Amino acid sequence: MTDLSGRILAVETSCDETAVAVVENGRRIVTNVVASQVALHSATGGIVPEVAARAHLRWMIPVLEQARREAGIGDWSDVEAVAVTEGPGLVGSLLVGITMAKTLAWLHGLPLVPVNHLEGHIYAAWLLDPGEADKPAPEFPLVALVVSGGHTFLVEMTDHLSYRLLGQTVDDAAGEAFDKVGRLLGLPYPGGPAIMQAAAGAEHRDRVFPRAWLGDTFDFSFSGLKTAARREVARELGIEVDHMGSDGQDLPDAAVAELAYGFQESVVDVLSAKTLRAAEEIDARTIVVGGGVAANSVLRGHIEQGAERRGIGVVVPRPGLCTDNAAMIGAAGFFRSRAGERGGVDLAARPSLKLAVPEPV
Ligand code: KG4
Ligand code: ZN
Repeated sequence: MTDLSGRILAVETSCDETAVAVVENGRRIVTNVVASQVALHSATGGIVPEVAARAHLRWMIPVLEQARREAGIGDWSDVEAVAVTEGPGLVGSLLVGITMAKTLAWLHGLPLVPVNHLEGHIYAAWLLDPGEADKPAPEFPLVALVVSGGHTFLVEMTDHLSYRLLGQTVDDAAGEAFDKVGRLLGLPYPGGPAIMQAAAGAEHRDRVFPRAWLGDTFDFSFSGLKTAARREVARELGIEVDHMGSDGQDLPDAAVAELAYGFQESVVDVLSAKTLRAAEEIDARTIVVGGGVAANSVLRGHIEQGAERRGIGVVVPRPGLCTDNAAMIGAAGFFRSRAGERGGVDLAARPSLKLAVPEPV
């Protein structure tokens, strides 16, 4: 054990960011390089998988080279393992990172460690930036809320790499709802940051969107919000919903801001209330929030205030570590590597990989 360096080189290409990072001991970021495809996909208002995969091919080697240079990796003897996202994600995108990671592991005689992208979003809470003062790691038992473009769920963790599903979305992911409603309001892609920005400028805050509580479960539902938003937009335009196009309605800025505010409040209210109730129920010491939507400052604020009142610790990574990156894969990869988990040359992309499945009732 003692001769292990604790340095993990991690590769992440599951969706639309080409990313390579080097992380020490599951915590300290040495370097974290992310090439974002946002500008590329904003032209189409969303991700075209084939376009994303080609962009990964274009950027994989330059991103790796930059990370290698910044981390001062020379002969690779100080790298303990190569970690890579095996899923879930877009198959063509995943394959680019997996092929790169396999090649590096083989070439340099290093262990290959597969990581679940969703646990990466949770392990972002362990990360420390270069030069950042040390701080305590999240304490178990914890409740993790993962809110991304493709996933929304709550899990309990009583130890490293152990996940018990508490609840999940029964339809759209929270980020997907932000993206769809953003598009409807004529805001740029991705919808999340655009809605947050528009909502901050809302003067009247009286538009109330429905909340899908789904009884006292920890499940979520967000698909009704797009319908509610369409109804509100049609009312604003003074036309029938059926006569309205699906995207980019031409609304005054003030109306966009009010609708963005009402929508965001609805999502944040349900996400934060269920997370806090779950934390109380399992006597959690920490709440961890991860995934792109965790970059939302209103969501962070709600959860932080609620947790403080209950005496529960909260860790929400800085926004750049909430959205997709490879440092989070490096953090999870460290714990997986030390647990002896290995991928072989036959490691395959797993587009529908789950983190935890519902328990039988
Ligand atoms: O985790 P992520 O980068 O990629 C996936 O694995 O899906 O999440 C992307 C999602 C998008 O739906 C985006 O609209 C949302 O995160 N997002 C936000 C914010 N920043 C990104 N949603 C709400 N508020 C934000 N500030
Ligand atoms: Zn993600």
